[in-house]
Amino acid sequence: MPASYAPFPLSRPRRMRQSPALRALSGETRLSASDLIWPVFVREGDGPDQDVPSMPGVVRRSVPRVVEAAAEAAELGIPAICLFPYVDPALKTEDCAEAWNPENTVNRTIRAIKAQVPDIAVMTDVALDPYNINGHDGLVRGGEVVNDPSVECLVKMTLAQAEAGADIIGPSDMMDGRIGAMRGALEAGGHQNVTILSYAAKFASAYYGPFRDAVGASGALTGDKKTYQIDPANGDEAIRCVQRDLAEGADMVMVKPGMPYLDIIRRVKAELAVPTYAYQVSGEYAMIEGAARNGWVDGDAVMMESLMSFRRAGCDGVLSYFAPRVAARLRAG
Ligand code: PBG
Repeated sequence: MPASYAPFPLSRPRRMRQSPALRALSGETRLSASDLIWPVFVREGDGPDQDVPSMPGVVRRSVPRVVEAAAEAAELGIPAICLFPYVDPALKTEDCAEAWNPENTVNRTIRAIKAQVPDIAVMTDVALDPYNINGHDGLVRGGEVVNDPSVECLVKMTLAQAEAGADIIGPSDMMDGRIGAMRGALEAGGHQNVTILSYAAKFASAYYGPFRDAVGASGALTGDKKTYQIDPANGDEAIRCVQRDLAEGADMVMVKPGMPYLDIIRRVKAELAVPTYAYQVSGEYAMIEGAARNGWVDGDAVMMESLMSFRRAGCDGVLSYFAPRVAARLRAG
């Protein structure tokens, strides 16, 4: 009696990998330009772009150059641009008043983009660090980052940005209660349709180092941000922070940094089923670009793979300094 054997091998996943056509058919995740938000650095004055040494390929632009970047992004199909200011040290104070000056660099840039590239969504950063003489995201009193007085400042900053025409407010400060306060002020101020993308799960990370160079905050920061940003060891706490921000009125939530926290992204999407974004931060960019420029990795390939990993983990979109390069690559096919 012939023995009946199971066929060998039991399965052949390679069958579905054998040609570009079959690989295309079995692709589970797509990446497109519409998944991207491009963070850009804006500075006062005219003249050429300034290099950010710790982020090779990333520059600080004058306001007209940011408008050009917005036009480039729109042309590439990138739906949103996110503005970060490089602030003149002379404008940094203890009360951070420049943050809600209607004529500050960011607010003037928002108006310029809205006038010339109306279709792109403009996202802002809400936190006091670029304007704070201490480099902290909130007001420092007696050596402490004080929560509730900081929230009052952040609300003023939010309203100034909304008045200037911001579409997406991005609170990155991690003070408690700020989303509810901002949402209430936006509603009361006639800005019901201004959205909030909360930096809800923002970790106290060493990956922000190059960004602090880019915005000129590294020299200014006294101490660290561990009294308000989340301990990298804590996943459940991050989920609770996301839930809290949603309950207070956030429309979208962000996990930051990105690749070291893909598990958190996965949990947010799976457990809460909300619009979920990641920030591939400056240190992640610097690591990829630094290795690529040394010839140690294929930069474009690692860039595309890193972006795909965010989509696979559950992101609806990603803030990435690579955004225009990724969009151009996708267009080239
Ligand atoms: C500041 C802010 C930071 C980033 C975005 N907003 C730095 C920080 O929290 O110190 C980091 C972005 C990056 O590293 O690319 N509120």
